[in-house]
Amino acid sequence: MRKGHMIVCDGGNGAGKTTVLKAIEVHLQAKGRELVMTREPGGTPIGEKVREILLSPDTPEMCGVTELMLFAAARAQHVRERILPAIAAGKIVVSDRFDSATVSFQHYARGLPLDLIHKINSIAIDGFKPDITIILDLDPIVGLQRVSSRGEGLDRMEQESMDFLHKARHGYLEQAKNDPAHFVVIDSSQPLEKVIIDVIHVVDRIIA
Ligand SMILES: Nc1ncnc2c1ncn2[C@@H]1O[C@H](COP(=O)(O)OP(=O)(O)O)[C@@H](O)[C@H]1O
Ligand SMILES: [Mg+2]
Repeated sequence: MRKGHMIVCDGGNGAGKTTVLKAIEVHLQAKGRELVMTREPGGTPIGEKVREILLSPDTPEMCGVTELMLFAAARAQHVRERILPAIAAGKIVVSDRFDSATVSFQHYARGLPLDLIHKINSIAIDGFKPDITIILDLDPIVGLQRVSSRGEGLDRMEQESMDFLHKARHGYLEQAKNDPAHFVVIDSSQPLEKVIIDVIHVVDRIIA
């Protein structure tokens, strides 16, 4: 029997995931809940090394299947080393991205077959499912504008074409439509304060 919870925040780059995750962290800490804040790709020492490979802008030659398997390798370690033990201890795990990102980017945007994605994802997550995946939905053009105003360089995924980013957005919306019990879409073109109110509302419902 599961004791803790897992909440995922996902969506395009610049949609506000990092900003919103900080608000979730502050909110749950104020409630005295034990938290594990984490991210994908990454979340473990091995996963963070895989993240460097995945996001390095120096390797545009990476094949789609290589990319898929590296994301899955990082996720397999993340689930076993960090997520499942935290949930068994009754903690709340809050992750910046998870398996929904693979479905959006590697299937809807990159075009790899959905059954392949599901097969590889299911090996990585081994039957585990987050309680909820909050999708921050935003036009990728606005997202990229926000990212560039953050003043950092673009990583390998952020350097993809606009068409790719639009397809990924569509992929998030499709996943949410197909599984409304596990996904919530929040319009992140709204003022940040409103986005945070909407997100906290979902978080409180999940942990209640
Ligand atoms: N609702 C919002 N309206 C306007 N700007 C926002 C909003 N949410 C986030 N931002 C800003 O957009 C930028 C990208 O946000 P960030 O949280 O880093 O996105 P992500 O982690 O999804 O890439 C940051 O500068 C952040 O302050
Ligand atoms: Mg971020």
